[in-house]
Amino acid sequence: MKASVLYYSKTGHTKQMAEEIVKGMEKVEGVKAKAFSIDAIDEEWAQESKCIILGSPIYMANVCTDIKAFLEKSSRKLNLPGKLGGAFATVDYVHGGGELGIRLMLDHMMVMGMLTYSGGGAKGKPVIHLGPVAVSDALESYNDTFQTYGQRMAEKAAEIF
Ligand SMILES: Cc1cc2nc3c(=O)[nH]c(=O)nc-3n(C[C@H](O)[C@H](O)[C@H](O)COP(=O)(O)O)c2cc1C
Repeated sequence: MKASVLYYSKTGHTKQMAEEIVKGMEKVEGVKAKAFSIDAIDEEWAQESKCIILGSPIYMANVCTDIKAFLEKSSRKLNLPGKLGGAFATVDYVHGGGELGIRLMLDHMMVMGMLTYSGGGAKGKPVIHLGPVAVSDALESYNDTFQTYGQRMAEKAAEIF
């Protein structure tokens, strides 16, 4: 089963955390995951992916313009309806708006007919209610959480599909 982690990243933080999610997804037997910048997506791979996770840096307490434009304009060609979706963010500040950005991405996914998931509190610690948020001055300290999130998303996708 294929999976994709799509992101926008200007200074590398969101890309770095996308790659941690990929590592976690690939811990699930039979799952092949790849990360792509939204301006260099392997469309065939993404179309065939059962699970799509989207990541944004947070600008002004919400997603950046490129992610909003991607959601409104470019995402339709990826056959999103019916796929499992999730979202993550990177921020400079713990109260900088990470979860607001995640909510916006999950809302768009719902509008497009995707199934959204995170694991919530049902999987125990680390509890990830909506999606993981990494703070830029300590990115590596979030690696385990992002890998666990990727693993949970891939396990759920494997269970459904
Ligand atoms: C225009 C702009 C606005 C930003 N606004 C916020 C913000 O509201 N809250 C926050 O925590 N970080 C903010 N940041 C910091 C970025 O979200 C953070 O550095 C992020 O990790 C960058 O991701 P990237 O390296 O993948 O581009 C802002 C950065 C820029 C350039």
